[in-house]
Amino acid sequence: MESINPLLSELKRVKQKLASYKIELHQARGYLQCILQNSEDMIFATEVSGMLISFSKSGEKVLGYSWEEVIGSQVKDLAKDPAAFEQFLNTSRQDGSSVQLDLAFQHKDGNTAYCNVSLINLTNREGLRIGTVGVCRDITLWKKIQDDLVRIDRLAEMGRIAAGVAHEINNPLAIINEASGWAATVVSDAKGIGSEDRQELEKATKEISAQTKRCRTITHQLLGFVRDSELSKTEFDVHELLNETISFLKPELKHSPIEINTRFMPGPLNMNSDPKLLEQVCVNLITNAIHAVREKHGDKGRIEIRTLKTDSEVEIHFEDNGIGIPQENRQNIFELFYTTKPPGKGTGLGLPICQNIARKVGGKITCQSNVGVGTTFTVHIPT
Ligand SMILES: Nc1ncnc2c1ncn2[C@@H]1O[C@H](COP(=O)(O)OP(=O)(O)O)[C@@H](O)[C@H]1O
Ligand SMILES: [Mg+2]
Repeated sequence: MESINPLLSELKRVKQKLASYKIELHQARGYLQCILQNSEDMIFATEVSGMLISFSKSGEKVLGYSWEEVIGSQVKDLAKDPAAFEQFLNTSRQDGSSVQLDLAFQHKDGNTAYCNVSLINLTNREGLRIGTVGVCRDITLWKKIQDDLVRIDRLAEMGRIAAGVAHEINNPLAIINEASGWAATVVSDAKGIGSEDRQELEKATKEISAQTKRCRTITHQLLGFVRDSELSKTEFDVHELLNETISFLKPELKHSPIEINTRFMPGPLNMNSDPKLLEQVCVNLITNAIHAVREKHGDKGRIEIRTLKTDSEVEIHFEDNGIGIPQENRQNIFELFYTTKPPGKGTGLGLPICQNIARKVGGKITCQSNVGVGTTFTVHIPT
């Protein structure tokens, strides 16, 4: 009986130790569960073969798959390029330490999700590898911003080159214009030319002059876009400016069944801004509206210009019943050189220039459109 006592107390001690281990284990499991449930990063664990045995809740946010959908499948199949992921997994297995890489994953909705992936080897007490843990940080948005920056940079570079070209072309254009004027005089004074030949030559010199003017307009618009011209602010009446712009564009409408109506708020609409720049915006938007209604044959073209003043801004609406802009084109229309018009007709400069001007005065231009029904562009200018 005496000899059994030490054994009993030893047993009690072991039991106590076991209980405390149990508590520790429970706490560790809770801690791990808490990380898996609440981490913003997608965390997974695989066994040696690469089969998924754990997948955190955030994985659902990052890739769209729930735990039940992926457990038991191969982790490499989540990647867009499974072979590349497999190779990456092998590197981590060989290196033993943690490795990092940016990888593209296939989201359940078909999109691509980009993650920065860290892989860590899981080992047992004997140091044997029993699997891999991966922590994946969603960098999709970050990557998009980076790509946008590269694109914007390229556009800016293109803009600078275009401005250089425009500048270089201006001098030869002036010479061509002068020479065509001189040629026109020579033709009209020349004796001994048949009337048919004279007509042909006159037509040719007129065409040279018209096309040179068109080139000059394009180069000036381009230079105006790239050069950061200073704002010259004065007080002016928006209604007066709009009426002047419309009468300036009237010759464009001769021989077309297009009417331009105005619905202005009562009285003058005074504003302190740059009238020349605002006029440029109005000319561009009305010209686009004219093109859009002309392209929709059949209906009588109608363009309506409305003004509105709220507490914080002045709004000018340019509404047309033209062809409208398809949804998929709407995100491109403010891009430099984007045009749907045939070569020689569109330059793709109008809207980006308008947006640039609106931003310069702290405002913006928005667009609403229905294909086949019409389009409304709204210029918002803060007061
Ligand atoms: N009022 C409008 N109705 C329909 N489409 C329009 C309208 N305004 C602009 N667009 C579309 O936006 C494109 C870009 O316009 P813009 O920058 O002025 O260049 P451009 O007029 O030289 O084509 C046009 O080619 C056209 O497809
Ligand atoms: Mg235009």
